[in-house]
Amino acid sequence: MNDYRLTSHLAPKRGWLNDPNGLCVHQGVIHIFYQADPDNLTGKRKAWGHFTTTDFVHYTDCGLAIEPTEAFEQHGAYSGSALSVGDQLHLFYTGNVKEPGEHDFIRSGRQHNTIHALSDGKTVDHKHVVLSNSDYPDFCSCHVRDPKVNKIAEGYEMVLGARTLKDEGCVLRYTSSDLERWQLSAILRSETKMGYMWECPDLLHFDDVDVLLCCPQGLTRQGYHYENVYDNGYFLIQQDQAKTYRTLDYGFDFYAPQTFEDSWGRRILIGWMGLPDTDYTIPTKTWMHALTLPRQLRYEEGQLKQRVIDELQPTHLLTAKTTQAQAPQACVLKMQPQKSLTLAIDTLKIQYADGLFTLDCSACGEGRTQRHVELPNLDTLELYLDVSSVEIFLNDGQFSLTSRCFFDTAIRTIQADCEFDLYDAVAIEIESRDIQ
Ligand code: FRU
Repeated sequence: MNDYRLTSHLAPKRGWLNDPNGLCVHQGVIHIFYQADPDNLTGKRKAWGHFTTTDFVHYTDCGLAIEPTEAFEQHGAYSGSALSVGDQLHLFYTGNVKEPGEHDFIRSGRQHNTIHALSDGKTVDHKHVVLSNSDYPDFCSCHVRDPKVNKIAEGYEMVLGARTLKDEGCVLRYTSSDLERWQLSAILRSETKMGYMWECPDLLHFDDVDVLLCCPQGLTRQGYHYENVYDNGYFLIQQDQAKTYRTLDYGFDFYAPQTFEDSWGRRILIGWMGLPDTDYTIPTKTWMHALTLPRQLRYEEGQLKQRVIDELQPTHLLTAKTTQAQAPQACVLKMQPQKSLTLAIDTLKIQYADGLFTLDCSACGEGRTQRHVELPNLDTLELYLDVSSVEIFLNDGQFSLTSRCFFDTAIRTIQADCEFDLYDAVAIEIESRDIQ
Protein backbone atom coordinates (compact mmCIF):
# COMPACT_ATOMS: atom_id res chain seq x y z
CA MET A 1 0.00 0.00 0.00
CA ASN A 2 1.30 3.46 -0.88
CA ASP A 3 0.75 5.35 2.35
CA TYR A 4 2.75 8.40 1.28
CA ARG A 5 4.84 8.33 4.50
CA LEU A 6 7.01 11.46 4.72
CA THR A 7 10.75 11.19 5.36
CA SER A 8 11.69 14.75 6.46
CA HIS A 9 8.57 15.67 8.44
CA LEU A 10 7.06 14.83 11.81
CA ALA A 11 3.81 12.91 11.52
CA PRO A 12 1.96 10.53 13.84
CA LYS A 13 2.75 6.84 13.60
CA ARG A 14 -0.96 6.25 13.42
CA GLY A 15 -4.07 8.39 13.68
CA TRP A 16 -4.66 12.10 13.47
CA LEU A 17 -2.52 15.24 13.96
CA ASN A 18 -3.41 18.93 13.82
CA ASP A 19 -1.92 22.03 15.48
CA PRO A 20 1.60 22.08 16.93
CA ASN A 21 1.31 22.80 20.67
CA GLY A 22 3.65 23.58 23.55
CA LEU A 23 6.78 24.23 21.48
CA CYS A 24 9.63 24.95 23.88
CA VAL A 25 13.09 24.08 25.14
CA HIS A 26 13.08 22.56 28.62
CA GLN A 27 16.40 21.64 30.23
CA GLY A 28 18.13 21.45 26.85
CA VAL A 29 15.48 19.28 25.20
CA ILE A 30 13.16 20.61 22.49
CA HIS A 31 9.54 19.59 23.06
CA ILE A 32 7.07 19.48 20.21
CA PHE A 33 3.55 18.62 21.32
CA TYR A 34 0.63 18.46 18.91
CA GLN A 35 -3.12 17.92 18.71
CA ALA A 36 -3.48 14.16 18.40
CA ASP A 37 -6.04 11.41 18.13
CA PRO A 38 -4.23 8.11 17.66
CA ASP A 39 -7.46 6.12 17.38
CA ASN A 40 -9.19 8.03 14.59
CA LEU A 41 -8.28 9.53 11.25
CA THR A 42 -10.82 12.30 11.82
CA GLY A 43 -9.53 13.83 15.06
CA LYS A 44 -12.62 13.09 17.13
CA ARG A 45 -11.04 13.04 20.58
CA LYS A 46 -8.31 15.67 20.90
CA ALA A 47 -5.36 14.83 23.12
CA TRP A 48 -1.74 16.08 23.07
CA GLY A 49 0.86 13.95 21.32
CA HIS A 50 4.52 14.52 22.13
CA PHE A 51 7.85 14.44 20.28
CA THR A 52 11.23 15.47 21.68
CA THR A 53 14.54 16.20 19.97
CA THR A 54 17.85 17.89 20.62
CA ASP A 55 18.93 18.40 17.01
CA PHE A 56 15.78 18.53 14.82
CA VAL A 57 16.96 15.36 13.04
CA HIS A 58 16.65 12.60 15.66
CA TYR A 59 13.30 12.55 17.44
CA THR A 60 11.65 10.49 20.15
CA ASP A 61 7.94 9.82 19.85
CA CYS A 62 6.82 9.93 23.49
CA GLY A 63 3.20 8.98 22.82
CA LEU A 64 0.37 10.93 24.43
CA ALA A 65 1.25 13.64 26.98
CA ILE A 66 -2.23 14.91 27.80
CA GLU A 67 -5.47 12.97 27.59
CA PRO A 68 -8.83 14.64 28.27
CA THR A 69 -9.53 12.76 31.49
CA GLU A 70 -11.04 15.54 33.63
CA ALA A 71 -14.59 16.94 33.57
CA PHE A 72 -13.28 20.41 32.65
CA GLU A 73 -11.72 19.07 29.40
CA GLN A 74 -14.02 16.16 28.70
CA HIS A 75 -14.57 16.96 25.00
CA GLY A 76 -10.97 17.64 24.13
CA ALA A 77 -7.61 18.91 25.34
CA TYR A 78 -7.38 21.67 22.75
CA SER A 79 -4.40 23.74 21.64
CA GLY A 80 -2.01 25.60 23.88
CA SER A 81 1.58 26.35 24.77
CA ALA A 82 4.40 25.58 27.20
CA LEU A 83 6.82 27.63 29.26
CA SER A 84 9.92 26.28 30.95
CA VAL A 85 10.52 27.87 34.38
CA GLY A 86 13.27 26.37 36.52
CA ASP A 87 12.84 22.63 36.67
CA GLN A 88 9.17 22.74 35.74
CA LEU A 89 7.42 22.85 32.44
CA HIS A 90 4.17 24.80 32.63
CA LEU A 91 1.56 23.78 30.07
CA PHE A 92 -1.46 25.94 29.20
CA TYR A 93 -4.27 24.70 26.99
CA THR A 94 -8.00 24.83 26.40
CA GLY A 95 -10.32 22.30 27.98
CA ASN A 96 -13.28 21.93 25.63
CA VAL A 97 -16.63 20.96 27.18
CA LYS A 98 -19.92 20.65 25.32
CA GLU A 99 -22.91 20.95 27.59
CA PRO A 100 -25.96 18.76 27.09
CA GLY A 101 -29.08 20.27 25.52
CA GLU A 102 -29.97 22.32 22.45
CA HIS A 103 -27.14 24.74 21.69
CA ASP A 104 -25.31 26.34 18.80
CA PHE A 105 -22.11 25.77 20.84
CA ILE A 106 -20.98 29.28 19.85
CA ARG A 107 -23.23 31.51 21.94
CA SER A 108 -24.24 28.81 24.39
CA GLY A 109 -23.43 25.26 25.39
CA ARG A 110 -19.65 25.31 25.32
CA GLN A 111 -17.06 25.83 28.04
CA HIS A 112 -13.59 26.86 27.00
CA ASN A 113 -11.51 26.45 30.14
CA THR A 114 -7.94 27.72 30.25
CA ILE A 115 -6.03 24.95 32.00
CA HIS A 116 -2.63 25.12 33.64
CA ALA A 117 -0.74 21.84 34.13
CA LEU A 118 2.75 20.96 35.31
CA SER A 119 5.25 18.60 33.78
CA ASP A 120 8.80 17.36 34.26
CA GLY A 121 9.02 16.97 30.49
CA LYS A 122 7.76 13.38 30.71
CA THR A 123 4.48 13.16 32.60
CA VAL A 124 1.85 15.85 33.03
CA ASP A 125 -0.11 16.39 36.23
CA HIS A 126 -1.74 18.99 38.47
CA LYS A 127 -4.22 20.05 35.78
CA HIS A 128 -6.39 22.92 37.02
CA VAL A 129 -8.54 25.67 35.55
CA VAL A 130 -7.14 29.22 35.75
CA LEU A 131 -9.75 30.97 33.59
CA SER A 132 -13.24 29.90 32.52
CA ASN A 133 -16.09 31.43 30.48
CA SER A 134 -17.29 33.70 33.30
CA ASP A 135 -13.79 35.26 33.50
CA TYR A 136 -13.70 36.29 29.84
CA PRO A 137 -15.17 39.69 28.86
CA ASP A 138 -18.95 39.83 28.39
CA PHE A 139 -18.65 40.65 24.69
CA CYS A 140 -17.08 37.24 23.98
CA SER A 141 -18.93 34.21 22.66
CA CYS A 142 -18.07 30.78 24.13
CA HIS A 143 -15.14 30.56 21.70
CA VAL A 144 -12.07 31.73 23.61
CA ARG A 145 -9.15 29.37 23.24
CA ASP A 146 -5.54 28.46 22.43
CA PRO A 147 -3.52 30.15 25.22
CA LYS A 148 0.03 31.15 24.24
CA VAL A 149 2.12 32.18 27.24
CA ASN A 150 5.32 34.27 27.14
CA LYS A 151 7.80 35.43 29.74
CA ILE A 152 7.94 39.24 29.77
CA ALA A 153 9.96 41.68 31.90
CA GLU A 154 7.13 42.21 34.41
CA GLY A 155 6.10 38.55 34.70
CA TYR A 156 4.09 36.62 32.15
CA GLU A 157 1.60 37.34 29.40
CA MET A 158 -0.98 35.09 27.79
CA VAL A 159 -2.87 35.65 24.55
CA LEU A 160 -6.15 33.86 23.79
CA GLY A 161 -7.97 33.76 20.45
CA ALA A 162 -11.61 34.86 20.62
CA ARG A 163 -14.87 35.28 18.74
CA THR A 164 -17.10 38.09 19.96
CA LEU A 165 -20.90 37.92 20.20
CA LYS A 166 -20.90 40.19 17.13
CA ASP A 167 -18.84 37.57 15.25
CA GLU A 168 -15.61 39.53 15.19
CA GLY A 169 -12.21 37.95 15.69
CA CYS A 170 -9.93 39.41 18.37
CA VAL A 171 -7.27 38.41 20.88
CA LEU A 172 -7.43 38.77 24.67
CA ARG A 173 -4.15 39.56 26.40
CA TYR A 174 -3.78 38.65 30.07
CA THR A 175 -0.84 39.19 32.42
CA SER A 176 0.23 37.43 35.59
CA SER A 177 3.06 37.49 38.09
CA ASP A 178 2.66 33.87 39.22
CA LEU A 179 1.14 31.97 36.25
CA GLU A 180 -1.97 31.31 38.38
CA ARG A 181 -3.87 34.59 38.68
CA TRP A 182 -4.44 36.29 35.34
CA GLN A 183 -5.69 39.84 34.73
CA LEU A 184 -7.06 41.07 31.41
CA SER A 185 -4.64 43.74 30.19
CA ALA A 186 -5.64 44.39 26.56
CA ILE A 187 -7.93 43.46 23.71
CA LEU A 188 -6.08 43.27 20.43
CA ARG A 189 -8.38 43.90 17.50
CA SER A 190 -8.33 45.36 14.01
CA GLU A 191 -9.88 48.71 13.07
CA THR A 192 -12.30 47.04 10.69
CA LYS A 193 -13.53 43.48 11.05
CA MET A 194 -11.08 40.78 9.89
CA GLY A 195 -13.12 37.60 10.12
CA TYR A 196 -15.30 36.20 12.91
CA MET A 197 -12.69 34.26 14.89
CA TRP A 198 -8.91 34.46 15.38
CA GLU A 199 -7.49 31.07 16.29
CA CYS A 200 -4.08 30.16 17.66
CA PRO A 201 -2.59 33.57 18.49
CA ASP A 202 1.14 34.03 19.13
CA LEU A 203 2.48 37.43 20.16
CA LEU A 204 6.08 37.98 19.06
CA HIS A 205 8.25 40.77 20.42
CA PHE A 206 10.97 41.77 17.98
CA ASP A 207 13.38 44.62 18.84
CA ASP A 208 11.32 47.36 17.26
CA VAL A 209 7.92 45.82 16.67
CA ASP A 210 5.26 43.50 18.15
CA VAL A 211 3.80 41.00 15.70
CA LEU A 212 0.62 39.00 16.30
CA LEU A 213 0.45 35.70 14.45
CA CYS A 214 -3.05 34.24 14.23
CA CYS A 215 -5.46 32.39 11.97
CA PRO A 216 -8.47 34.54 11.05
CA GLN A 217 -11.57 32.58 10.05
CA GLY A 218 -14.17 34.11 7.79
CA LEU A 219 -12.12 36.40 5.51
CA THR A 220 -13.77 36.93 2.15
CA ARG A 221 -11.72 35.96 -0.87
CA GLN A 222 -10.44 39.01 -2.74
CA GLY A 223 -8.71 38.31 -6.05
CA TYR A 224 -5.70 36.15 -5.19
CA HIS A 225 -5.99 36.86 -1.46
CA TYR A 226 -7.57 34.53 1.10
CA GLU A 227 -8.06 31.67 -1.34
CA ASN A 228 -8.26 29.13 1.51
CA VAL A 229 -11.32 28.52 3.70
CA TYR A 230 -9.33 29.88 6.69
CA ASP A 231 -6.32 32.17 6.41
CA ASN A 232 -3.10 32.31 8.43
CA GLY A 233 -1.10 35.46 8.89
CA TYR A 234 0.05 38.30 11.08
CA PHE A 235 -0.72 41.83 12.20
CA LEU A 236 1.64 44.52 13.43
CA ILE A 237 0.49 45.65 16.88
CA GLN A 238 0.51 49.36 17.71
CA GLN A 239 -1.20 50.51 20.92
CA ASP A 240 -3.29 47.34 21.03
CA GLN A 241 -4.46 47.88 17.46
CA ALA A 242 -3.89 45.06 14.99
CA LYS A 243 -2.73 46.66 11.73
CA THR A 244 -1.47 45.76 8.23
CA TYR A 245 -2.56 42.12 8.05
CA ARG A 246 -0.44 39.88 5.82
CA THR A 247 -0.86 36.22 4.93
CA LEU A 248 2.08 34.12 6.10
CA ASP A 249 1.77 31.04 3.87
CA TYR A 250 -0.22 30.91 0.62
CA GLY A 251 -0.35 27.13 0.08
CA PHE A 252 -3.27 24.72 0.46
CA ASP A 253 -2.06 23.12 3.68
CA PHE A 254 -0.81 25.47 6.35
CA TYR A 255 -2.49 26.45 9.60
CA ALA A 256 -2.06 27.16 13.33
CA PRO A 257 1.68 27.97 13.30
CA GLN A 258 3.36 28.35 16.67
CA THR A 259 6.81 29.72 17.50
CA PHE A 260 9.39 29.39 20.27
CA GLU A 261 12.83 30.74 20.96
CA ASP A 262 15.50 28.06 21.02
CA SER A 263 18.73 27.93 23.07
CA TRP A 264 20.56 29.93 20.38
CA GLY A 265 17.98 32.72 20.41
CA ARG A 266 16.45 31.69 17.10
CA ARG A 267 12.67 32.24 16.71
CA ILE A 268 11.50 28.93 15.22
CA LEU A 269 8.09 28.40 13.66
CA ILE A 270 6.33 25.09 13.05
CA GLY A 271 2.89 24.91 11.46
CA TRP A 272 0.29 22.26 10.89
CA MET A 273 0.65 21.04 7.29
CA GLY A 274 -3.11 20.82 6.97
CA LEU A 275 -6.25 22.93 7.19
CA PRO A 276 -9.66 22.30 8.80
CA ASP A 277 -12.94 22.11 6.86
CA THR A 278 -11.50 21.74 3.35
CA ASP A 279 -13.26 20.16 0.41
CA TYR A 280 -10.05 18.47 -0.75
CA THR A 281 -8.71 15.34 0.91
CA ILE A 282 -5.66 13.36 2.03
CA PRO A 283 -5.53 9.76 0.77
CA THR A 284 -3.39 8.29 3.59
CA LYS A 285 -4.99 5.30 5.31
CA THR A 286 -3.25 4.84 8.66
CA TRP A 287 -2.12 8.35 9.59
CA MET A 288 -3.44 11.81 8.88
CA HIS A 289 -1.49 15.06 8.53
CA ALA A 290 2.00 16.23 9.46
CA LEU A 291 3.86 19.25 10.78
CA THR A 292 5.78 21.61 8.49
CA LEU A 293 9.54 21.74 8.44
CA PRO A 294 10.79 23.98 11.28
CA ARG A 295 11.49 27.45 9.90
CA GLN A 296 13.55 30.25 11.35
CA LEU A 297 11.56 33.45 11.45
CA ARG A 298 12.96 36.94 11.16
CA TYR A 299 11.40 40.35 10.86
CA GLU A 300 12.97 42.36 8.04
CA GLU A 301 11.86 45.29 5.90
CA GLY A 302 8.47 45.45 7.62
CA GLN A 303 7.59 41.80 7.23
CA LEU A 304 8.21 38.27 8.44
CA LYS A 305 10.56 36.06 6.45
CA GLN A 306 10.98 32.31 6.84
CA ARG A 307 13.91 30.02 6.17
CA VAL A 308 14.14 26.28 6.82
CA ILE A 309 16.42 25.88 9.85
CA ASP A 310 20.13 25.23 9.23
CA GLU A 311 19.87 21.67 10.56
CA LEU A 312 17.55 20.76 7.66
CA GLN A 313 19.33 22.73 4.95
CA PRO A 314 20.47 20.21 2.34
CA THR A 315 24.20 19.54 2.08
CA HIS A 316 24.36 16.71 -0.43
CA LEU A 317 24.33 18.24 -3.91
CA LEU A 318 23.00 15.77 -6.52
CA THR A 319 23.23 17.92 -9.67
CA ALA A 320 24.33 21.52 -10.17
CA LYS A 321 23.01 23.98 -12.74
CA THR A 322 20.69 21.71 -14.62
CA THR A 323 17.28 22.26 -16.22
CA GLN A 324 16.10 18.68 -16.00
CA ALA A 325 16.64 15.80 -13.62
CA GLN A 326 15.38 12.55 -12.22
CA ALA A 327 15.15 13.15 -8.49
CA PRO A 328 14.45 11.21 -5.31
CA GLN A 329 11.02 11.71 -3.70
CA ALA A 330 12.51 13.89 -0.95
CA CYS A 331 14.76 16.52 -2.50
CA VAL A 332 15.45 20.25 -2.50
CA LEU A 333 15.64 22.59 -5.49
CA LYS A 334 17.25 26.01 -5.36
CA MET A 335 17.14 28.46 -8.26
CA GLN A 336 17.30 32.10 -9.22
CA PRO A 337 14.69 32.62 -11.89
CA GLN A 338 14.77 35.73 -14.04
CA LYS A 339 11.62 37.34 -15.43
CA SER A 340 9.50 34.22 -15.59
CA LEU A 341 9.52 30.54 -14.69
CA THR A 342 7.93 27.30 -15.80
CA LEU A 343 8.68 24.29 -13.64
CA ALA A 344 7.15 20.81 -13.66
CA ILE A 345 7.76 18.16 -11.02
CA ASP A 346 5.91 15.15 -12.40
CA THR A 347 2.32 16.43 -12.49
CA LEU A 348 2.91 19.36 -10.11
CA LYS A 349 3.15 22.61 -12.10
CA ILE A 350 4.66 25.91 -11.07
CA GLN A 351 4.63 29.11 -13.05
CA TYR A 352 5.70 32.69 -12.60
CA ALA A 353 4.67 35.24 -15.21
CA ASP A 354 3.52 38.86 -15.21
CA GLY A 355 3.94 39.27 -11.47
CA LEU A 356 1.88 36.20 -10.58
CA PHE A 357 3.22 32.99 -9.01
CA THR A 358 0.98 29.97 -9.51
CA LEU A 359 1.16 26.63 -7.75
CA ASP A 360 -0.95 24.15 -9.68
CA CYS A 361 -1.75 20.89 -7.89
CA SER A 362 -4.73 20.04 -10.12
CA ALA A 363 -3.23 16.74 -11.29
CA CYS A 364 -1.74 15.56 -7.97
CA GLY A 365 -3.76 17.34 -5.28
CA GLU A 366 -6.80 15.17 -4.44
CA GLY A 367 -9.09 18.12 -5.15
CA ARG A 368 -6.51 20.87 -4.69
CA THR A 369 -6.36 23.19 -7.71
CA GLN A 370 -4.32 26.42 -7.81
CA ARG A 371 -2.97 28.88 -5.27
CA HIS A 372 -1.32 32.19 -6.09
CA VAL A 373 1.02 34.88 -4.84
CA GLU A 374 1.35 38.30 -6.44
CA LEU A 375 4.94 39.56 -6.42
CA PRO A 376 6.71 42.04 -8.70
CA ASN A 377 9.99 40.06 -8.98
CA LEU A 378 10.96 36.46 -8.40
CA ASP A 379 14.63 36.47 -7.42
CA THR A 380 15.03 33.20 -5.53
CA LEU A 381 13.01 30.02 -5.19
CA GLU A 382 13.68 27.16 -2.78
CA LEU A 383 11.49 24.11 -2.96
CA TYR A 384 11.48 21.33 -0.35
CA LEU A 385 9.83 18.23 -1.75
CA ASP A 386 8.94 15.24 0.41
CA VAL A 387 7.10 12.03 -0.52
CA SER A 388 3.70 13.77 -0.34
CA SER A 389 4.37 17.46 0.34
CA VAL A 390 5.97 20.56 -1.06
CA GLU A 391 7.14 23.72 0.73
CA ILE A 392 8.13 26.64 -1.46
CA PHE A 393 9.98 29.77 -0.33
CA LEU A 394 10.14 32.80 -2.61
CA ASN A 395 12.49 35.78 -2.47
CA ASP A 396 14.55 34.73 0.50
CA GLY A 397 11.51 33.52 2.44
CA GLN A 398 9.40 36.61 1.92
CA PHE A 399 6.55 34.37 0.73
CA SER A 400 5.88 30.67 1.26
CA LEU A 401 3.46 28.09 -0.08
CA THR A 402 2.96 24.76 1.68
CA SER A 403 0.92 21.97 0.20
CA ARG A 404 0.34 18.25 0.27
CA CYS A 405 0.64 16.55 -3.15
CA PHE A 406 0.43 12.90 -4.09
CA PHE A 407 2.39 11.12 -6.81
CA ASP A 408 2.32 7.49 -7.88
CA THR A 409 5.93 7.33 -9.07
CA ALA A 410 8.99 6.51 -6.97
CA ILE A 411 11.23 8.92 -8.92
CA ARG A 412 10.39 12.55 -9.67
CA THR A 413 10.97 13.95 -13.15
CA ILE A 414 11.84 17.63 -12.95
CA GLN A 415 11.84 19.98 -15.92
CA ALA A 416 12.41 23.73 -15.79
CA ASP A 417 13.11 26.61 -18.15
CA CYS A 418 15.78 27.94 -15.80
CA GLU A 419 18.78 26.30 -14.15
CA PHE A 420 18.48 24.81 -10.68
CA ASP A 421 20.64 23.01 -8.14
CA LEU A 422 19.24 19.73 -6.90
CA TYR A 423 20.00 18.36 -3.43
CA ASP A 424 19.04 15.34 -1.37
CA ALA A 425 16.69 16.31 1.47
CA VAL A 426 17.78 15.72 5.07
CA ALA A 427 15.84 12.73 6.42
CA ILE A 428 14.72 12.66 10.04
CA GLU A 429 14.60 9.65 12.37
CA ILE A 430 11.76 9.02 14.81
CA GLU A 431 12.25 6.48 17.56
CA SER A 432 9.23 5.39 19.60
CA ARG A 433 9.18 5.38 23.37
CA ASP A 434 6.69 3.06 25.10
CA ILE A 435 3.79 3.52 22.73
CA GLN A 436 1.17 0.76 22.87
C1 FRU B 1 -7.10 25.12 15.18
C2 FRU B 1 -8.04 24.61 16.28
C3 FRU B 1 -7.81 25.37 17.58
C4 FRU B 1 -8.29 24.37 18.60
C5 FRU B 1 -7.79 23.08 18.00
C6 FRU B 1 -8.62 21.87 18.33
O1 FRU B 1 -6.86 24.16 14.20
O2 FRU B 1 -9.38 24.72 15.87
O3 FRU B 1 -8.46 26.61 17.65
O4 FRU B 1 -7.76 24.60 19.87
O5 FRU B 1 -7.76 23.27 16.61
O6 FRU B 1 -7.98 20.72 17.83
